Amino acid sequence: MSGNNRLVTQVGRLTLPNPVICGSGEPVMTEAGIRAALAAGAAGVIARSVNERPEAARQLDLADYITLDLEGARSLFNRSGLIGRDTADWFGAIAAIDREAAAAGRFVAASIVFAGVEGAVEIAGMARAAGLRVFELNVGAPHASEASPGAISQETDPARPRELVARVKAAAGDMALWVKLTGLSSNLPALALAAREGGADAVCMMGRFMAMMPDLETFAPVLGTSAAYGGNWALPIVCRFLALSRRAVGADFPLMGTNGVRSGLDVARMALSGASAVEVLSIVMHEGFGAIARMIAELDAFLAARDISFAGLVGRTADRLAGYGAQSVLPGRWREFVPRETLG
Ligand SMILES: Cc1cc2nc3c(=O)[nH]c(=O)nc-3n(C[C@H](O)[C@H](O)[C@H](O)COP(=O)(O)O)c2cc1C
Repeated sequence: MSGNNRLVTQVGRLTLPNPVICGSGEPVMTEAGIRAALAAGAAGVIARSVNERPEAARQLDLADYITLDLEGARSLFNRSGLIGRDTADWFGAIAAIDREAAAAGRFVAASIVFAGVEGAVEIAGMARAAGLRVFELNVGAPHASEASPGAISQETDPARPRELVARVKAAAGDMALWVKLTGLSSNLPALALAAREGGADAVCMMGRFMAMMPDLETFAPVLGTSAAYGGNWALPIVCRFLALSRRAVGADFPLMGTNGVRSGLDVARMALSGASAVEVLSIVMHEGFGAIARMIAELDAFLAARDISFAGLVGRTADRLAGYGAQSVLPGRWREFVPRETLG
């Protein structure tokens, strides 16, 4: 398998040169940031999200960030806002970069953090008018419970996304519609199925979690509030939901993984669980855009060593996931995992 073809992946109708997409967030809130992600080799960029509510943009000035270092693992803990720029102006700017990216088989997507159906429909129409090819609808931003009322909505009930996605799909026209799901639900497979039934072209999972961290010096909450929290520790949780969702939506429907990818091997883990691509962000905030090039090189080396293609990884582990009842019995195994005193 030649180096050029090994990393190619397919997300619906879109063929990408590799599976590493730079996810939405502050690093891609400017044209310069988007170009830097593409220059680092990202197959695409989900440009910083917008929504129709001014409160969500104003929240940006209240944003704050800290890196928590628990047991040596870096995890970003933050509250965030949305881009303050005029939506038509922002979409015009990213569409111009998307046209350049298309020539290299890459893309720049518009993204909306969902607040309400009418706003989502209107903004999808604006992205389409700007000539964008991919529209990501985030229905699960973690900040919903803390942001100003109405600024961000979170869909955890599978009954609603089908209708919402269908409405946005109608407005999206020829644009590929990707739906990004929440991390704050255990209903991911049902939500993914609802998104598929509503007409989504792909589903990305899962958003970060909400958390609160006591400061042991001041006894106050770190940053003063609850905040969104993700990390490499989240990866196995996402992998399980990818595998269960693949079962629910079928192997032919593209899934994407986000939350916890820090290396090329993590990209492989998400792919084995069913992801055709990944959206990475925190690692770019920790390490810079060079992290994207590093992860692509690591993934390529992993595939080359096994002489397999990325496409050949997708879903392989998911399709072998068994239930507890199907395991062989291991009498007394628990004894190896308790302190000596327990055994008397
Ligand atoms: C500071 C920050 C800002 C983010 N902003 C957005 C956003 O505007 N829209 C969105 O859909 N996701 C946003 N996300 C989520 C990321 O795109 C990504 O899905 C998530 O951080 C999990 O992936 P990671 O572990 O690689 O960071 C943001 C995440 C962080 C850390």
